[in-house]
Amino acid sequence: MKIGVISADTASESRVALTPDAVKKLRKLGFEVVIQSGAGQAAYYADELYQAAGADIANSSTEVITQSRIITTVNDLPSETTANLSSGQVVVGMLDPYRNTQLDTYAAKGATAFAMELLPRTLSRAQNMDVLSSQANLAGYKAVLLAANEYSRPFPMFMTSAGTVKPAKVVILGVGVAGLQAIATAKRLGAVVEASDLRPAAKEQVESLGGKWLDVPMSEDEAQKAKATGGYAWTPSEQYIKDQAAVVDKALSNADIVITTAQIPGRNAPRLVHEATLTKMKAGSVLIDMAAGTGGNVEGSVPNDTITTENGVRIVGAANIPSMLAAQSSDLYANNLVNFITTLTAPAGDEAAANDLSLNLDMEDEIQGALAVTHDGQVRLAKR
Ligand code: NAI
Repeated sequence: MKIGVISADTASESRVALTPDAVKKLRKLGFEVVIQSGAGQAAYYADELYQAAGADIANSSTEVITQSRIITTVNDLPSETTANLSSGQVVVGMLDPYRNTQLDTYAAKGATAFAMELLPRTLSRAQNMDVLSSQANLAGYKAVLLAANEYSRPFPMFMTSAGTVKPAKVVILGVGVAGLQAIATAKRLGAVVEASDLRPAAKEQVESLGGKWLDVPMSEDEAQKAKATGGYAWTPSEQYIKDQAAVVDKALSNADIVITTAQIPGRNAPRLVHEATLTKMKAGSVLIDMAAGTGGNVEGSVPNDTITTENGVRIVGAANIPSMLAAQSSDLYANNLVNFITTLTAPAGDEAAANDLSLNLDMEDEIQGALAVTHDGQVRLAKR
């Protein structure tokens, strides 16, 4: 069975879906691999490395699609390629399912499209396929380095004969995978860190990393809701949003660096930093809005651009940080895909079936069923 790798649009994406190491693993399992020429170039994986790992090189995306049973991609397939899909093909990638405008095309072509973002995260056998975690962890680390680079003072405290340098005050809003890594990285650089999240469980994690928890008061009803959502974000009340804005306003008035990471799967990111707060921030302070690509946590942030407000606050619209660490993020992403693809061909541990390599699409399977956004000519994405 042949697996294809389609090149991303390298103007906005440097990652590649499979790396030469992933190709080696797949070849060992009995798959063939074909990769679009140059697909790995921006992640420092040249065609020759893929050839040495046992992949064929194709000159165009059309060639890859016509040859492959399973097509791997970082983001949604480029629109000019979907016309070439045919019935029974499988597409695997971060398809941004709730904003994807091509699902009808995938369904009409009879392709099964798996959106990796929809992975059930609490399922332990799925953890090695969790693309959101593998990418967010790297993004949280890099966000701190971006901030340090934009900031005109250092992060650590220094005692020098020319005077004492105070440590940077860093505020992290949204403490999921990216936020936790951002706290750890900022602490390692010597900053003083405060953080907040609407999940009360995050308090303990923030404190265990040496951060200070910024508490937003929560009603009994909201505390119940937070528990019932099993650790995921819940829809806050107007009162909570108001109280949160006041807490954020106070913390940011004193902050040097702010990193916002709050996302809500399938919806626009919540607005956490408003214009009124930005006007109170210090000149030279830096905000990294990691949700800039999905609506923005910070008012006025522009995806893939840095703006400076009238009072000298810099807002970095960091829409795709994992792409800045393309070599490493591709390695982890490719591992996630290999782990998923191997479950499509055989139940885990069944070596005889693995060698047979027939596709085993099963919408009753809790991983496949959750990820498949088109199958059997139907779009099967639940409304949010
Ligand atoms: P995310 O990228 O969807 O959002 C980042 C953070 O922003 C989350 O912690 C979320 O609670 C927070 N947030 C959303 N709206 C907010 C608002 N209005 N105000 C303040 N904070 C807000 O989150 P991520 O990193 O994908 O994690 C989501 C959940 O999944 C977390 O509970 C995390 O612990 C859990 N998780 C579980 C895993 C597992 O069990 N294997 C693996 C990875 C994550």
